[in-house]
Amino acid sequence: MPIAADFASHYGPVALVTGASSGIGREFARQLATAGLDLVLVARRQALIETLAKELAKEHGVEVTTLPLDLGCRDFLDMLLPACEGRDIGLVVSNAGLGAKGLLDETPLETLEAVLAVNCRAPMLVAHAFLPLLRRRGRGGIVITGSIEAYTPAPWSVAYSASKAFVRALGEGLWGEVRGSGVDVLVLAPGATDTEMITNSGMDVRDMPTGAMTPADVARQGLERLGGGPSHIAGVANFLLVSLLSLLPRRLALLAAGRGMRDAIEKGRRRSEEG
Ligand SMILES: NC(=O)c1ccc[n+]([C@@H]2O[C@H](COP(=O)([O-])OP(=O)(O)OC[C@H]3O[C@@H](n4cnc5c(N)ncnc54)[C@H](OP(=O)(O)O)[C@@H]3O)[C@@H](O)[C@H]2O)c1
Repeated sequence: MPIAADFASHYGPVALVTGASSGIGREFARQLATAGLDLVLVARRQALIETLAKELAKEHGVEVTTLPLDLGCRDFLDMLLPACEGRDIGLVVSNAGLGAKGLLDETPLETLEAVLAVNCRAPMLVAHAFLPLLRRRGRGGIVITGSIEAYTPAPWSVAYSASKAFVRALGEGLWGEVRGSGVDVLVLAPGATDTEMITNSGMDVRDMPTGAMTPADVARQGLERLGGGPSHIAGVANFLLVSLLSLLPRRLALLAAGRGMRDAIEKGRRRSEEG
């Protein structure tokens, strides 16, 4: 289903998408270009965002700017803001993120630092930078990609779960702060989605207890739900899983979430050992 016909007039003319080189972010970019928005695409892998930019410009006649950037750098705003200067950005999609599966105490410190910087610090600073501009325009939006792990943290994915709990609080709180200003904020909470994040974590989508959604479906739900409330859990199966876990006593919910995570990690490890 395409996003609303008046989407571009409310959230255009330009959208900033972080984490646009793959997965859900690439699908955000594709769907926004299809809706007629010009784009600023951010990720570290320059070749991937440049190829995507050329494809979208050719197919949809939109203007696409690329910015190869590590959002984990302390001074990333010093590069991001000049690249957006003079562009009338109406939509900010803070989607870049990374996972960290396994026991917290066996996870390298630099991975934990990167999770905090990219998943938490970057969307907060991006919101801080762009909200005044969006408020002045009196229309626009911010989508932040969270996770269902924000609702019940998963043991064996503790740093990631905690980072997404931060994202949930950040986005839902901002939703309340901007109400009535013409600016919409949405936290999009996907469950397992068939992207590099799963494979980079050593897991396999076939081992996900609720199956895996396509990144296109997840991005579409985010764009459709923007303006409809503070957050959206992508997919009925994920909504049911979150609801079920919320009904359980907390200790049981944590044990169930941890069991599911550890099983998926172990199955992934066995699959890669078997080749
Ligand atoms: N896949 C899932 O099962 C799932 C579930 C729930 C939530 N999510 C969330 O969905 C979002 C998108 O992830 P995905 O599933 O689409 O995975 P993905 O394909 O691995 O995409 C992650 C994106 O983030 C970018 N990124 C990572 N570190 C970055 C950094 N330091 N600086 C700039 N960009 C960086 C990556 O680009 P470069 O590598 O080119 O920099 C890539 O474009 C993330 O926030 C993730 O937490 C995913």
